[in-house]
Amino acid sequence: MKSDVKPDVCVVGLGYIGLPTAAVVARAGCKVHGVDVTQSVVDTINRGEIHIEEVDLDGLVHGVVARGLLKASTEMAPADVFIIAVPTPFDANHAPDISYVLAAGEAVARVLKTGDTVILESTSPVGTTEALRDLIAAARPDLKCPGLTGETPDVSIAYCPERVLPGKILEELTNNDRSIGGITPRCARKALAFYKRFVRGTCVTTDARSAEMTKLVENAYRDVNIAFANELSIVADRMGLDVWEVIRLANRHPRVNILTPGPGVGGHCIAVDPWFIVHGAPEETPLIRTARGVNDGKIHHVIARAEALIEAHPAARVACLGLAFKANIDDFRESPARAVAARLARKFGDRIKVVEPYAAELPREFEGTAAELIDIDTALESCDVLIVLVDHDAFKAVPLAERAAKAVYDTRGIWLDQPKSGASAPAQDRLKLAS
Ligand SMILES: NC(=O)c1ccc[n+]([C@@H]2O[C@H](COP(=O)([O-])OP(=O)(O)OC[C@H]3O[C@@H](n4cnc5c(N)ncnc54)[C@H](O)[C@@H]3O)[C@@H](O)[C@H]2O)c1
Repeated sequence: MKSDVKPDVCVVGLGYIGLPTAAVVARAGCKVHGVDVTQSVVDTINRGEIHIEEVDLDGLVHGVVARGLLKASTEMAPADVFIIAVPTPFDANHAPDISYVLAAGEAVARVLKTGDTVILESTSPVGTTEALRDLIAAARPDLKCPGLTGETPDVSIAYCPERVLPGKILEELTNNDRSIGGITPRCARKALAFYKRFVRGTCVTTDARSAEMTKLVENAYRDVNIAFANELSIVADRMGLDVWEVIRLANRHPRVNILTPGPGVGGHCIAVDPWFIVHGAPEETPLIRTARGVNDGKIHHVIARAEALIEAHPAARVACLGLAFKANIDDFRESPARAVAARLARKFGDRIKVVEPYAAELPREFEGTAAELIDIDTALESCDVLIVLVDHDAFKAVPLAERAAKAVYDTRGIWLDQPKSGASAPAQDRLKLAS
């Protein structure tokens, strides 16, 4: 690959990370071959359409497919740069599962040639990029792999994690700073040259293991700090305090910035990645492990308060507002909102309505329940109890006049002007009764 010639790029895994990346790289003028094991994903993209919700992605994908710069397939093809963006879930014991990365690596190894660069973007436990290198070295003894030979290697292998925010992926893909970790410094420089084609943020090179750990640390940092806010909200309920008021006041301190409590932590990143650190150093991670426990435990606290509010309004219909794991996206993976709403649906049957502007139907947890998906207007017209689980803009925009008479449990603090009633009220009465 000559540096003045645009490389052909293969993106493996065309989900929330891979598809926007493929589209942005194609927009930069590279020919992109996208690979996904799911036929329907491939067919959708080749029609110039998208299978995920992401701001402005539809127009971009339509454009690059129409210009012949992006093509999807279930089959691997030769390229100059390979980007792997496949899932890295954990198993039932919270141990990382890198089997998708290794399967992608095996497929890439079959078409690799001298001069190629392989970049892993999947969030991965420390050592995964080296495992990928070892797999490639075993599959292709004809190619010299980095770090295994004193000679100049034939291929470069690097790790470059994603830190984009769903809903702002296209903007952040180009503007965020990136950590680029090479198996060797030469690998890092090769990957850096590639990212400079489309990244405007600062690209900092390091070694692969440091880059892997950096990504995990970023999400563990968020998880620990959200756990503090969530624990505070439970303490505030116990003490009869308004947690939003306490946080608002505390954050006036110039060096305090308490995050926002919620119904728990969801998504494929913050709720998962801290476990990769715990798994790598189980004895040394009591804080990270406890934070995971606090955030998972918050779901049970929210369910208990929601149940109490619903039981206090025996005839009322109840609207659960939101299923996504965060605001303004259609991603329901590991979502605490979904878990809370499904639990309420199983307990209270057809009294439970769900409002989720990003869902066409209720997810499978609701199968066998009488819960119904309705829109926000219907909810405001027909439900007397509102349980806010996601801070979608559509919910934030509901004016006080349309909800003042409702009993509200606002787990996200989006309606701080709501008159205090039911679960919205601090638990002073309960404390008084107890004393
Ligand atoms: N979604 C995010 O906001 C985000 C942010 C940062 C990092 N990440 C990380 O990026 C990685 C990908 O996440 P995602 O959200 O894009 O996942 P995703 O599930 O949306 O997409 C992954 C895609 O990979 C495909 N796939 C699985 N195995 C494959 C294989 N062997 N070959 C080709 N395709 C294969 C799947 O069919 C799927 O379409 C994960 O490691 C995740 O932790 C995600």
